[in-house]
Amino acid sequence: MLNKQEAIWVVIPAAGVGKRMQADRPKQYLSLLDKCVIEQTIACFSAHPKISGIIIALSPDDPYWKDLNINCDKPLYTVDGGNERCDSVLNALVYLKSELALHDDSWVMVHDAARPCLSQKDLNKLITALENSAVGGILASPVRDTMKRSSESNQHIIHHTENRDNLWHALTPQMFRFALLFDALQQALDNNISITDDASAIEYLGLPAELIEGDASNIKITKPSDLALAEFFLSRAKESV
Ligand code: CTP
Ligand code: MG
Repeated sequence: MLNKQEAIWVVIPAAGVGKRMQADRPKQYLSLLDKCVIEQTIACFSAHPKISGIIIALSPDDPYWKDLNINCDKPLYTVDGGNERCDSVLNALVYLKSELALHDDSWVMVHDAARPCLSQKDLNKLITALENSAVGGILASPVRDTMKRSSESNQHIIHHTENRDNLWHALTPQMFRFALLFDALQQALDNNISITDDASAIEYLGLPAELIEGDASNIKITKPSDLALAEFFLSRAKESV
């Protein structure tokens, strides 16, 4: 049995509307192989021996969740999401504190509902890499393409080429000590800081978040063509098991 500090709770923000996907429902409820996207995402964590439980943030008027037949081997709770992703994550953290009395030093791993291709290998890599960390870190993949900055006056004209050295794509999961992440998100929101991922809040506090290299196949389904790509990555992973 895990002691409190070693507990790892997963927060899955799933309260978005999926505007860029232009589908008839939020992308987390679109079909992907034999399940829908969010069911595939939950399955990434459900069987993992080190995961203590899962909190899912849902839109308060989500009509789809209740019709799913979720098969999960862990405690699973839902909370209301908020206007932005960071509000949804914060609501889940409030639940972990007030309802589950999570220990300050426990781990919280935040993972987008729209990333169903997370491999067990990368999940293990993240957990192992952060074992002795006092702060936490994120899965990320080094930028491969040449990066162009467009001009401010015309976004279709190149202003200059960015130096690609030390540039990474931030992926999820992003795993931090519970009290640190809670405090960081609260402070960033109170100060109107733009937070697009959880690490941004940790950076805002000036704390060192680690970058752990993960596979670029851990895509976030964002635009219509991403669904076919996710299907390819997921079926390839299932074939190799
Ligand atoms: N999310 C959330 N609460 C919000 C906004 C987003 O929980 N208020 C979740 C989404 O459901 C998704 C993850 O955060 O799993 C990443 O966000 P994104 O890819 O931007 O999803 P959407 O906001 O749904 O998509 P879009 O921006 O195209 O509308
Ligand atoms: Mg969004």
